[in-house]
Amino acid sequence: MSPAFVLEVQTNREEEELVESHEYHDGVKHLCERGLAKVPRKYILPPLERPFMSKKDGATNLKLPVIDLAKLQGPDRVHTLKSLSKACEEYGFFQLINHGIASESVLNMFQAARKFFELPFEERSKYMSKDQSVPVRYGTSFNQNKDSVFCWRDFLKLSCHPLSDVLPNWPSSPAELRQAVVNYSKETKSLYLMLVKAVLESLGLVETAENADENDSCDHLKEFEDGSQLIVANFYPSCPEPDLTLGMTPHSDYGFLTLLLPDEEVKGLQIQHEGRWVTVEPIPNSFVVNVGDHLEIFSNGRYSSVLHRVLVNPFKSRMSIASLHSLPFNSMIRPSPKLISDANPRRYMDTDFASFIGYMASHEHKNKNFLESRRLTQKRRCMSFFFLNK
Ligand code: OGA
Ligand code: NI
Repeated sequence: MSPAFVLEVQTNREEEELVESHEYHDGVKHLCERGLAKVPRKYILPPLERPFMSKKDGATNLKLPVIDLAKLQGPDRVHTLKSLSKACEEYGFFQLINHGIASESVLNMFQAARKFFELPFEERSKYMSKDQSVPVRYGTSFNQNKDSVFCWRDFLKLSCHPLSDVLPNWPSSPAELRQAVVNYSKETKSLYLMLVKAVLESLGLVETAENADENDSCDHLKEFEDGSQLIVANFYPSCPEPDLTLGMTPHSDYGFLTLLLPDEEVKGLQIQHEGRWVTVEPIPNSFVVNVGDHLEIFSNGRYSSVLHRVLVNPFKSRMSIASLHSLPFNSMIRPSPKLISDANPRRYMDTDFASFIGYMASHEHKNKNFLESRRLTQKRRCMSFFFLNK
């Protein structure tokens, strides 16, 4: 083979890969719109990371613990708080029924997001950005700058706090999107605050409703009221070879709590429970709520931020809307001092949001790698004791 031929083949391949890699960055929907009979190499997971690898996985559908918000706000509060606590410890997930958010608001949010994904690519792509800190971002996979294998998912992420600052940056098309997100973000925020109050109570950090010291519980809640909120609309196109790839690879959510509206028609969310992957069976008109990394840290490990992933469907596309909530961006995330004792020593380092954002931007988003990086091992604990007492 002549050196010129080898060079030509090599150059062609490089060019092809360059074109291909650029295409992947335009998102899965764009790729599918031009017709795909097979999953491109960029999305094929190594054999051991593919879904359906183990016979046990996905064999059973899981009915998550159900928390009834109406009971939580009524005379059954104490009993319901116990169920909440058990769900956060054992599953890291629960389904919330009777949540009080009008179905119209949910429907409008879904519809506006769907219309956004249906816009021509040129319109959607205006919001693509490599910068993870912008208030609106359209993108694909998890961290498309770092992921070696891409996920079969496109997303629209909208920061919601403070609303007056971020709103002018949100897409102006489709016309109804801004209003739908404003309504939906306000309603999910107040729902989140009710849940946070219950979570603090369940951890013994504020008094139960009857003998609560108003000032004490207000102080605690003020920080949460000023907290960050990110609404993520996820779109998972149907996939010709769903056993080779995932809509989202195993991950934990970073924040305090995530309020997720799963697609009611198309299942796909799986959580890791008792060592295997189980599919969540959505209940109509309910939220799937999960504990995030920041709550695991705050509770000093009592509540678990559980790994979850998303399967894709061979026939149908799937959509979900996640609302991720945490403390304000300038807060320090740390185990609550009241939950640390000799018997239960501090398990995580203090983490500020900036180092968290830095970590996310520079690492492939995989498993619970962020949380693991904050965990205090016995050795690290001794070292921090040594330095603090020098
Ligand atoms: C997420 C997530 C699950 C889903 O957005 O972090 O896990 O069902 N979504 O789309
Ligand atoms: Ni998630």
